[in-house]
Amino acid sequence: MKPKVYITRKLPEEVVADLYESCQVTMWEKEEVPVPYEELEKQVQDADGILCLLTESIDANLLKKSPRLKIISNMAVGYNNIDVSTAKAQGILITNTPGVLTETTADLTFGLLIATARRFEESMDYVKKGKWATWSPMQLTGQDVYGSTLGIIGMGDIGEGIARRAKGFDMNVLYHNRSRKLKAEKELGVTYCDLQELLKQSNFVVVMTPYTPQTHHLISYAELSLMKPTSILINTSRGGIVDEEALYEALAEKRIWAAGLDVFEREPVSPDHPLLQLPNVVALPHIGSASIATRTKMGKLAAHNLLEGLKGNTPPNLVL
Ligand code: DGY
Repeated sequence: MKPKVYITRKLPEEVVADLYESCQVTMWEKEEVPVPYEELEKQVQDADGILCLLTESIDANLLKKSPRLKIISNMAVGYNNIDVSTAKAQGILITNTPGVLTETTADLTFGLLIATARRFEESMDYVKKGKWATWSPMQLTGQDVYGSTLGIIGMGDIGEGIARRAKGFDMNVLYHNRSRKLKAEKELGVTYCDLQELLKQSNFVVVMTPYTPQTHHLISYAELSLMKPTSILINTSRGGIVDEEALYEALAEKRIWAAGLDVFEREPVSPDHPLLQLPNVVALPHIGSASIATRTKMGKLAAHNLLEGLKGNTPPNLVL
């Protein structure tokens, strides 16, 4: 009998074709609406495998109701949406999609950094909302990117991708990571720094660490107070790494210059969120990996991981 698979969001045909061939598949048929929790609860009861997104909370309650579940394939590199310890206790495999999104996410991060430094959002408003009355010497002036100091917190593959781009802008690159990256230091000329020093010295601080209980609110009042008043914080990792109340205060009081955010503690972020009322915040809807090619690759990799796990093989991107 073919294994039962639940896919939590409508995915392109080319992504799910192999799954449909070898499994009994049920797929949530909406693209823009996540599957309600109660529906997911119902669907996992007899599923052997699920392919899910970062929008689904695969928690202990859900896992306890899934006696047949062998594998959870997450279509994302981050897997903080999954209760890893409960899954582990139940012997359920977890896979993610690293590698394929590295360069696309590094592109977006660097783009957001420039957009924030050079005030793209406010500038676009000037043009589109008819505020552009004249060219004026100090109008919409921002911070220089080239030749400045970039601090990367979390030097994984994406961090290295950002560092490579920064070198093209003649930036001095500092990084902080759990372990030293000697190869990256040699090949990319990046310098290891403790977190406090990185925050003090950098003109741009990029948050790129995975979200875990240890990195929850890693950037809060004390950390933001070390940054320069001309510095910019960029977060394209997970919202929960930055304490949003502390960030709001730092930005509103101009203790730091601006922030570029692709991620929020609660997503989708409400348009009423205090951070979004500030002119020095550039906000995006979690689109780090959102190129057509990369999202297709992520979907295919997630499907492949799932199939391998269901066949009893070790999936290529096993995180647990
Ligand atoms: C991930 O993969 O974890 C991103 O947040 C979405 O691409």
